[in-house]
This record gives sequence, structure tokens and C-alpha cells, in this order.
Amino acid sequence: MNNIKKVELKCLKLNNQGQGIALYGKKEIVVPNFLPKEVGIVEVDSQREVTKGRLYRLLKQSPIRSNNNCDVYQKCGSCQILHMNYQEQIKFKKEFVEESFKREKIKVAIKEIIPSDVIKGYRNKMQVAYKLKDNKIVYGFYEEDSHRVIPLEKCFVQSDKQNEICKTIANIMKELKIAPYNEDKRSGVIRFALIREAFKTNQILVTIVTNGEMFPGRNEFVKRLKNKCSYISTIIQNYNSRKTSIILGDQERVLYGKGYIEDVLCGLTFRLSSKTFYQVNPVQAEKLYLKALEYADFNINDTIIDAYCGVGTIGMIASKNVKKVIGVENNKTSVKCAIDNAYLNQIKNITFVNKDATEFLLNLAKDNVKIDGVIMDPPRSGSTVSFLNSLKELTPQKVVYISCNPETLARDVKVLLDKYEITKTAITDMFVGSYHIETIVLLTRKNNQ
Ligand SMILES: C[S@@+](CC[C@H](N)C(=O)[O-])C[C@H]1O[C@@H](n2cnc3c(N)ncnc32)[C@H](O)[C@@H]1O
Repeated sequence: MNNIKKVELKCLKLNNQGQGIALYGKKEIVVPNFLPKEVGIVEVDSQREVTKGRLYRLLKQSPIRSNNNCDVYQKCGSCQILHMNYQEQIKFKKEFVEESFKREKIKVAIKEIIPSDVIKGYRNKMQVAYKLKDNKIVYGFYEEDSHRVIPLEKCFVQSDKQNEICKTIANIMKELKIAPYNEDKRSGVIRFALIREAFKTNQILVTIVTNGEMFPGRNEFVKRLKNKCSYISTIIQNYNSRKTSIILGDQERVLYGKGYIEDVLCGLTFRLSSKTFYQVNPVQAEKLYLKALEYADFNINDTIIDAYCGVGTIGMIASKNVKKVIGVENNKTSVKCAIDNAYLNQIKNITFVNKDATEFLLNLAKDNVKIDGVIMDPPRSGSTVSFLNSLKELTPQKVVYISCNPETLARDVKVLLDKYEITKTAITDMFVGSYHIETIVLLTRKNNQ
């Protein structure tokens, strides 16, 4: 029986993920791809408690709507606000950041906005799943909150080369009869492909994630992939036979090339493996790092901490303007890359500690170490209260907080406000088309502290 009911609704506002909110009866429901003041026919499942609807047809269109050529964006969930013109995307993100602070009772008006000059093909990392669908090998991203693959031809935020590699892999699988992974039966060979491209050096790393070590036809697969996409620098096989939504397994082997690539950011060279964290929009990453360091305005005698340092990018860029940098990061592979990177760039005043950032700061505070400045760039979940309390004990003159999640940023900044004041704020758009935004906040120690 068909439970889908079509109703005419008006979009009232957007939620913080850029989805429309409409009134269904007396209840607010979420309608993705619906813009404020638009009117449309919305499908709802009348047999369930209605919390979400699907825009079926627009009756009245908003002037801020922008047409795009992507036919999967409504399903794939990666570019939630691609249907807004770019100016409106930025406005939405700015308001989202300010709203997040307001919810914590902190008044912030974002002063500087750094938009992206590149709207398409800006991502340096692409990861797709391979599946069998109607007896055909398909690849693509997962539909939002599911493991259903949405078959993809081309993704506009990825580069042409990345798109071509994904397609070539599917074709070679077909030619060599290599089965994609079947999640229910836990059978098949290829699960995912992860592509990393260094735009400045034109190097490309391809990681093929297989269901365990077995990879029948491996040599022929590599030969054909190299031949068809001769611009690939290195190919890795990563083994992941676990029943998990985590893409990469622990073990890997190099099938071709060096097993890593190098990119150049702010004039420094960074070595990247399949597992290291690296900003996905390198053009904007440069602007983000330079703005963060402009805000920090460190002194040549300063000792600073780069907390949650990844492969050491920000700390190394800062190193020429300070006496000493200590990077702390809990991912072993990233720390190894960071040490290699410092060596590669002949940077001698930086050290890296492979530790949990909170544990590291607690120890520094206990030992009463003098720290002049801290740059912190935690994951989306933000930092911890213990980290923030240790920071207040260390009382560095300046803290630059870089965040990809305004909500955890505002929550964490609130903890610091008895000793620090917000002196500068900026947003950098790293993720065009999505609701995500990168925020930089400069916190300066209050005079009486
Ligand atoms: C948003 S990334 C920032 C990386 C780096 N600053 C950059 O711009 O490339 C966050 C980093 O924090 C690391 N991380 C996550 N939890 C951590 C923890 N508890 N202690 C230390 N590092 C952590 C992650 O591995 C990741 O490299």
C-alpha cells in the first residue's frame, strides 16, 4: 500500500544544516532542498510519525535558488546547500556561526569572511564505495544515514582526474571480473577507493580498500589502472575485512610507487599517506593558516603549542616566526608524517608528541611550563573541559582556535571566557555547497590574568 501523501507546504526557515523547515499540521518538519518562503508539494510518509518530507515539486521558487547540474546531490547528502546561490551560502554559514555563539550566550559578529574562489573541483580527496546493483558494478557516495550507494557518474566538487580514476576502477573490475564487496554476505573483493590529489605537485595517491588481503587479479589490476590513468603516482592496497563503517583497515601494502605523495602548502612540502588528516581544500587551507597566523602575531622568542596538529602543517608554517613549536597529535601515522615533514623542510625548532592532547596539556600545566601561544584545531567533537582548564592554568597570551564545528567551538570558547576575551573572528569557506564552515577565533588573555 502506498503511504506517501502529497501536501502543499511553505518553507519557514532553515535549520543549522541548511534544510528547510515547514509546518505540517502544527508540527515543524524537515524538508531538505527547500528554501525560506518557497512553496512546494512535499511528500510525507503518512503511516509514520512525520518528521521529514521530500520536496516533490516547487510551486513558488525563491530568488536565492541556484540551479546546479548535479543530479545526485539531493540524495548523497554531501552538498546540502548547493541549491543556494554562493552569496547566500556564505550568508547562511556566517549566521550559523553567530547563532551557535548566541546559543551559548556569547555575542559574536563575524568580521572577516574568506569565500572560496573555486566553486568546482576543489576537493583533493575522494572516497567512493563499490557495489553490485542490478548486476552492474556501481560506485558512489552513501545516501545520507545509510549504506546505500548512490551511483555516480561525476561529482563536481571533485577534480576530473579523481572522477576518471573512480570510473576506470569500475571498468577494470568489470573486465577482470573482480567482485565488489557485499556487505550482507561479507563477500567480494573491492570495498572502496580513496583518492588523494596534491594539486600543487600533480601527484596522486590511490588506495584500494579490499575485503582482507586476498586480491585476485591484483597485478593485472594495477597494470591496467597505471596504463589508463598514467598520472597516478602511487597505488596502495588497504585491507579491511571488518564489519564496520570505517573505511580504512590497519594494514596496507604498496602496490606501485612510493606509498605516499607530497603537496606544497604555504611554500612548505608535506608528505601524505592514505591515513593522514589533510585539509580537503588546499587553496582555502592556505588562506586559513595564513589568517590564523596573522591573528596570532607570534613573537620570535615565543614557545607555542600546535594542538591537534595532524601532519604538522600549521606549526611548521608558524615555526619561522617563533623560537619553538611543540605539535601534539594522537594519530601515530600523522605524527610520523609530521616528523618526516619537519626533516623534509629542514625545520629544526619543532618537535612532535604522539599523545592525547588533553593528557599532554594536563602534564604541561602540572609542570608549570611557560607557553606563550597555543593554536588548537580539534576534530568536529571539539576539545575537552580538562584541556581547556589546563590551557587556563598555562595562561598563554594568545590562543587561536580553528574549528570545523561552530557548535563545539562556541561551547569550548565559553569555558575560556573568564580568562580570555574574543578579539578577532573569521570564517573561511572550505566546503562550497555544504553547510560546513571553518572558523578562526583569536582569544587574548585578559589584562588582570
Ligand atoms: C581538524 S584536524 C586538524 C589537523 C591539522 N591542524 C591540520 O590543519 O591539518 C584534527 C586533528 O586532531 C587529531 N586528534 C583527534 N583527537 C585528538 C586527541 N584527543 N588528541 C590529539 N589529537 C587528536 C586528529 O587525528 C586530527 O589530525
